[in-house]
Amino acid sequence: MDRTLVIVKPDGVERGLAGEIIGRLERKQLRIVAAELRTITREVAEAHYAEHRDKPFFGDLVAFITRSPALVMVVEGPKDTYAVVRLMMGSTNPAEAAPGTIRGDLGIEMTENLVHGSDSHESARREITLFFPGLASA
Ligand code: RTP
Ligand code: MG
Repeated sequence: MDRTLVIVKPDGVERGLAGEIIGRLERKQLRIVAAELRTITREVAEAHYAEHRDKPFFGDLVAFITRSPALVMVVEGPKDTYAVVRLMMGSTNPAEAAPGTIRGDLGIEMTENLVHGSDSHESARREITLFFPGLASA
């Protein structure tokens, strides 16, 4: 089995779309193995998005992801689960994301793009450890 980190971002929780997003993952036959509604701290947000530290949008991104509770989850599937979730999420900019994807169906503005998914096996391992340090890896 293969695991990845998924976050329903603050905009998704604020808009009452957590159930919609979880439902899509479950209907795909992915399984939630850990989940917590939490306000992500600035320290964890900066570590999570460390690759973007020098980008002009970094400050806005950290302010956004920490502004209200997010639903942080570990999701499991048979193989390359991170890639399956990334396909279901759609492109980063919701205005350009394909219909049928979470961002394409439910979002319209950059930054407020509803969902995070790890972008590789290595990112998945790193992010699961960052958010759920007590969870034994698969
Ligand atoms: P995420 O990490 O949140 O799952 O999103 P992603 O892989 O699709 O996109 P990534 O390149 O990792 O960017 C992280 C988040 O930064 C915001 N962003 N803003 N203004 C911009 O040009 C810009 N580019 C990225 C987005 O909110 C994106 O989700
Ligand atoms: Mg990313």
